[in-house]
Amino acid sequence: MSALLEVNGLKTEFPTKRGLVHAVDGVSFTVDEGEVLGLVGESGSGKSVTGYSIMGLIDAPGRIAAGSVKFQGRELVGLPGRDWRAIRGRDVAMIFQDPMLTLNPVLRVDTQIVEAIHAHADVSAARAREWAAEALASVGIPSPEDRLKAYPHQFSGGMRQRVAIAIALLHKPRLLIADEPTTALDVTIQGQILSQVQTLAREMKMAVIWITHDLSVVSGLADRIAVMYAGRVVESGATSEVLTHPAHPYTLGLLHSLPSQNRPGERLLQIPGAPPQTVGARVGCAFVPRCTYGKARCTAEVPTATTFHEGGRRSVACHFALMNNAAATEATHG
Ligand SMILES: Nc1ncnc2c1ncn2[C@@H]1O[C@H](COP(=O)(O)OP(=O)(O)O)[C@@H](O)[C@H]1O
Ligand SMILES: [Mg+2]
Repeated sequence: MSALLEVNGLKTEFPTKRGLVHAVDGVSFTVDEGEVLGLVGESGSGKSVTGYSIMGLIDAPGRIAAGSVKFQGRELVGLPGRDWRAIRGRDVAMIFQDPMLTLNPVLRVDTQIVEAIHAHADVSAARAREWAAEALASVGIPSPEDRLKAYPHQFSGGMRQRVAIAIALLHKPRLLIADEPTTALDVTIQGQILSQVQTLAREMKMAVIWITHDLSVVSGLADRIAVMYAGRVVESGATSEVLTHPAHPYTLGLLHSLPSQNRPGERLLQIPGAPPQTVGARVGCAFVPRCTYGKARCTAEVPTATTFHEGGRRSVACHFALMNNAAATEATHG
């Protein structure tokens, strides 16, 4: 059986005054039906642009320069806008860090939800209204009938995000892309929304790509993790494997910088340095300036992703991958 989503060699670039920004620079991964993939990496690593590319939301002068995005076996790259409008919101949906990217500030919530319902379902006005109230209730909004009459600004940040989630899930999409939807919220609200989406996803058997800069957010949520650095996936695999046996020095660094890895009162470890801007041609490994394992070869030769274990679903792109760490006997280094 083929995967629900297959992303292969995806490259997305933006012309800027500083040169061509290779925001996504050859990303490949798959997501199965009902699977939760955590897409993790520091700010600027290309996570959002990957999400936008999958959703067909890259606007000119930005463009998908290469690669393929197959959803249920169908190529999405280059699909006309008309075809996209039939898919987006019905089969695939996205939620954003800022729920106001989904919501219109000048329209009442009921107007917006009913419109989103009618975009893909031919139901009566009465049924649409009922459906809208059910949708709000399903994401834990109290008194949904009353709240339907409100405007987005009359909701708290957390409740506004719940409304955006309700809209995204109206038509039970097969894939939800969640781009740091809880990052701007209080920790307790974050947790509530996280577990609510997780429960709904399980009930609907919906696949989720959960994008975050925070490895601890996806550790309890994702079946698999893909770690991004400078526009590439540097490591991927089952969550438990990646977290207990990281094979890429960057993943190891991310793990060491988690608060849970530190004793209270101890200084938080951080990977020294900052992620590079991916402008111009790539020479060598993008992580090498910050890597404690780096050698001459790393500055000269771009490491390609090598697969090992799990029928090829565990991968690492590093010349000196921590294979003892990953306990990979059959590993072959690029
Ligand atoms: N519209 C754009 N124009 C130019 N550069 C962009 C644009 N969108 C994103 N980028 C650049 O692409 C890189 C990846 O961005 P992004 O996907 O937003 O990172 P992340 O979501 O991982 O924080 C960054 O260097 C960012 O500055
Ligand atoms: Mg982002």
